[in-house]
Amino acid sequence: MMPSRKMVPLMVAGGVVTVIMGFIVAVLLISWFSNPPFGLGNAPSQPIAFPHTVHVAENNIQCEFCHRNVTKGEAATVPAVETCLFCHKDIDGGTVAAQEEINKVRTAFDTDTPIDWARVHRLPDHVRFIHEAHIRYFTDETIGVKYGINGEELSESPDVAQTCTICHGDVANKEVVQPKTGQSLKMGTCVDCHRVNSIPTDCTVCHK
Ligand code: HEC
Ligand code: HEC
Ligand code: HEC
Ligand code: HEC
Ligand code: HEC
Repeated sequence: MMPSRKMVPLMVAGGVVTVIMGFIVAVLLISWFSNPPFGLGNAPSQPIAFPHTVHVAENNIQCEFCHRNVTKGEAATVPAVETCLFCHKDIDGGTVAAQEEINKVRTAFDTDTPIDWARVHRLPDHVRFIHEAHIRYFTDETIGVKYGINGEELSESPDVAQTCTICHGDVANKEVVQPKTGQSLKMGTCVDCHRVNSIPTDCTVCHK
């Protein structure tokens, strides 16, 4: 049936409304998933089930042993497969599941394929963050009073691993790394902590 002359403008209007609604829904979905509020969020699936619990809490391996650049520069860095092989040449794992995961590490090494870890925390490219500056400040015992991420006064200087928990939570006791519960690392959080510690908050400190 051909639409009558009166129906055409109605159909056009309906189409426009549908497109606008679709656009709004898409924008809301994209902003929710790209920036989930308050650490509701992403524990991306990883190519190998690597538990921090087994390595840190049970075997006392230090954060800096694997995240080698964390006290030296901007990025903490995730270890290359050679670092894993340092131990896993010899260490097998106690269960079949653990052995299977460790075999994936060896295969990556043997075939010279980097392990494609998914990023958990990532700031936009226009923002600069330097791990070294933060670790140095919080572990420095000569600085009198320091304040944590919600403005709380820290009574003693934390050690390196305790400093990581300020922003990342208790990674040592996590099977899967995810953003600290209830903690955003949005601009307001950065600026509030800089201000309370009397660190400059000029835009150019954090923006390139
Ligand atoms: C300094 C030594 C050391 C390094 C470096 C190391 N591991 Fe391990 N890893 C261990 C030990 C010890 C265990 C426990 C083995 C056991 O349960 O018998 C383990 C266990 C594991 C397991 C099995 C966990 C489970 O479910 O029980 C996986 C998977 C694993 N490691 C992956 C890795 C990867 C990937 C790297 C590199 C990013 C790495 N490891 C680096 C010492 C190390
Ligand atoms: C044996 C090596 C090893 C040790 C020790 C280790 N990590 Fe990791 N870490 C990894 C690997 C491999 C990944 C990437 C896979 C993942 O996200 O689980 C990772 C990921 C992370 C991430 C998420 C990075 C991202 O993508 O945003 C954080 C945060 C982190 N580690 C903090 C710590 C802290 C804090 C400690 C010490 C308490 C620690 N790690 C000790 C190997 C290690
Ligand atoms: C002041 C807050 C803060 C502290 C303290 C902190 N981090 Fe981070 N971390 C971040 C932010 C923000 C990012 C995302 C950086 C980006 O995308 O450029 C990040 C990213 C990472 C990553 C993934 C990207 C990379 O840099 O390689 C790892 C691994 C990591 N942190 C480990 C650690 C460890 C280990 C410690 C303690 C020694 C630590 N962090 C302490 C805020 C912090
Ligand atoms: C828990 C408190 C705290 C939080 C949260 C925090 N910072 Fe900082 N930041 C500091 C302190 C303290 C310093 C000063 C270190 C020093 O004395 O050099 C600093 C220094 C810096 C510097 C300057 C480094 C240099 O030497 O030029 C940059 C860049 C920076 N922070 C970026 C960020 C960004 C981006 C975030 C949020 C993702 C953030 N910070 C979150 C406390 C914090
Ligand atoms: C202590 C670090 C820090 C300082 C100082 C800082 N910013 Fe930011 N800014 C960030 C971080 C981290 C982000 C990304 C996370 C977010 O969107 O909140 C950001 C994001 C932004 C954005 C993008 C917002 C968006 O929705 O994507 C703008 C615009 C911005 N900052 C402007 C400024 C201006 C202007 C100043 C100076 C008055 C300033 N910033 C100072 C850390 C900082």
